[in-house]
Amino acid sequence: GGELELVKSGKLTTCTHLPYEPFQVRKGDAVVGFDVDLVDLVAKKLDVTQEIVDTPFEGIQSGEDLNARKCDLAAAGMTITPVRAKNLDFSAGYFDATQAMIAKKGSSFTSLASLEGKKLGVQQGTTGETYAQKNAKGVTTVQFEDLALLLTAVKTGQVDAAVNDNGVLFEYVRKNPDTQVTAEFDTGEEYGIGVRTGNDALRKEIDAVIASAKSDGSYDRIYKKWFPA
Ligand code: ARG
Repeated sequence: GGELELVKSGKLTTCTHLPYEPFQVRKGDAVVGFDVDLVDLVAKKLDVTQEIVDTPFEGIQSGEDLNARKCDLAAAGMTITPVRAKNLDFSAGYFDATQAMIAKKGSSFTSLASLEGKKLGVQQGTTGETYAQKNAKGVTTVQFEDLALLLTAVKTGQVDAAVNDNGVLFEYVRKNPDTQVTAEFDTGEEYGIGVRTGNDALRKEIDAVIASAKSDGSYDRIYKKWFPA
């Protein structure tokens, strides 16, 4: 609770894990994406500038980075889960997601069952990894540290398919027509922005910005920018 205190004065420091296009991705010297634009609205409201820290997802989702004051908030296409909510506090949900599967174009791997005896790539520390561990029976899961390594493994045939969030997979397929989203699993996820447990001052600012962005059209503008129809 209490007053709003930032880790670095004049900055709103964001922990994220690159690349997670179109939510956060490096473009030249800058990091751009849906989450970056959303957090920029928060920074603007606080009259500071956003500074991005690229760090492994494990430390983000465990609350470790926030607790160590590595950043003020975490915006990483991160799903709100009950386990995570024990170690960090979440803003209101700002984006709907579901797990999905990607494989090479024309692949017959259209369900987890079809992958029996095969290799399925997952991203370390993610809800997709948890989903695959629970639901893929008789499938060898192969763990990758980030999304780029995971998707390259699909392309090169190092794995037969991979599981990750629908938004990033559809973006990848759009740019890599030799791949295909072969299944969606309807896991009903929602992304939230993480803050240190008890940092209600910042969490309330974030919630207020999400609410006003949804009502004043800026959310739609950002959505259309990163998810062109
Ligand atoms: N939504 C998934 C989760 O929360 C994946 C997020 C991965 N994000 C990232 N920036 N690497 O587990």
